[in-house]
Amino acid sequence: MTHVVTENCINCKYTNCVDVCPVDCFREGENFLVIDPEECIDCAVCIPECPANAIFFEEDLPDNQKIFLSINKELSKTFKNINRSKKPMEDSEKWNGKSNKLQHLKR
Ligand code: F3S
Repeated sequence: MTHVVTENCINCKYTNCVDVCPVDCFREGENFLVIDPEECIDCAVCIPECPANAIFFEEDLPDNQKIFLSINKELSKTFKNINRSKKPMEDSEKWNGKSNKLQHLKR
């Protein structure tokens, strides 16, 4: 079991989640973060920290976000470690809550 970063993180990347993770399991891409499922200990402390409500426990994933389980797994192999928060993306407020953002994911 793992926690999963989903679509609403794309182009927002607030990174608040990173500061509370006790095992540094977040990985960073250009406009999205993922959780490395091999490292996540399911502590759930990141969930309430995300202003975009983008993090779910694997079993709580909405149907239309289930694809992000494999996306997190795949991209955690190539995205880089991040263990400290940084500024959100410039247009994060504009993108927060937009639908159909998967097409904008930079891998
Ligand atoms: Fe993304 Fe939310 Fe973290 S927008 S970077 S999962 S705080």
